[in-house]
Amino acid sequence: MELLKEDFDKIQKQIISFYGINLSRKYELVKNRLTTFAIDEKYNNLHEFIEEINKNPFLYKELVNRLTTNYTYFFREREHFEILKKVIIPKLIMGNPNNLKIKIWSAGCSKGNEAYSIAIALEEILGLKMNYSIYGTDISTKVLNFANKGLYTKEDLKKVENNRIEKYFKKVKEDKFQVIDNLMKKVYFSELNLMLPFNPFFNNFNVIFCRNVMIYFPLDIKLKLINKFYNALQPGGYLIIGKSEILPGIKNKFKLVQQSVYRKEL
Ligand SMILES: C[S@@+](CC[C@H](N)C(=O)[O-])C[C@H]1O[C@@H](n2cnc3c(N)ncnc32)[C@H](O)[C@@H]1O
Repeated sequence: MELLKEDFDKIQKQIISFYGINLSRKYELVKNRLTTFAIDEKYNNLHEFIEEINKNPFLYKELVNRLTTNYTYFFREREHFEILKKVIIPKLIMGNPNNLKIKIWSAGCSKGNEAYSIAIALEEILGLKMNYSIYGTDISTKVLNFANKGLYTKEDLKKVENNRIEKYFKKVKEDKFQVIDNLMKKVYFSELNLMLPFNPFFNNFNVIFCRNVMIYFPLDIKLKLINKFYNALQPGGYLIIGKSEILPGIKNKFKLVQQSVYRKEL
């Protein structure tokens, strides 16, 4: 199906201003995903379909589901889970040995793999006597539904060691493994657009993971978001970004701990 230049421009401008995602150089991707979406909804003209999407909030939500890139896997960028276990949590405990409840945010959590990997890493800290909660948020309702079920295939778990699978997943049917209840009840998923002001509940975090999300955002939006994360962290809290991400200006606010790991000063 044909995607008119003016329709493409309109959609990509909306997506960047509502969600921060820069699709201006992704004409082919937008066209292909819109075409599949139109076929599924029984339309054969993209111009008419786009007009309908703009009138219908349900179709608009589905458009967001279709245009986001949700690639993720368990223990992606493993070093981050090691530093969480070996450096960050011990430091947080030392700072507050008596009454610590760890609050961690997986911002742009996709299908939940990151949030559950964090939960597994925390469970593995020997002698850990602390409460923790993990909040996973995303704009895609499709991935959030997936994350809430905590159901994964063998393929999804291919980078997870067998002993971790045995301990933290239960086989529910052929090729379906579910995160165990004890972990599921510590991880909460909800819809949240990082472009909007954060709900007041999203504050006082000890650690924020926002990995491989801001890569799609223009620099001005990245800088605003870094400020918002700074305000949402407790003093002494950590921000972890993707290892390949470059965020000029981040060092004005945060102290660099190691590549892609930053700390808000106490
Ligand atoms: C590539 S995935 C990264 C998942 C995970 N953090 C990781 O590193 O494996 C990026 C996720 O960010 C989400 N995202 C993009 N823009 C967002 C926004 N404005 N607010 C919240 N989530 C957003 C996408 O829906 C997608 O699921």
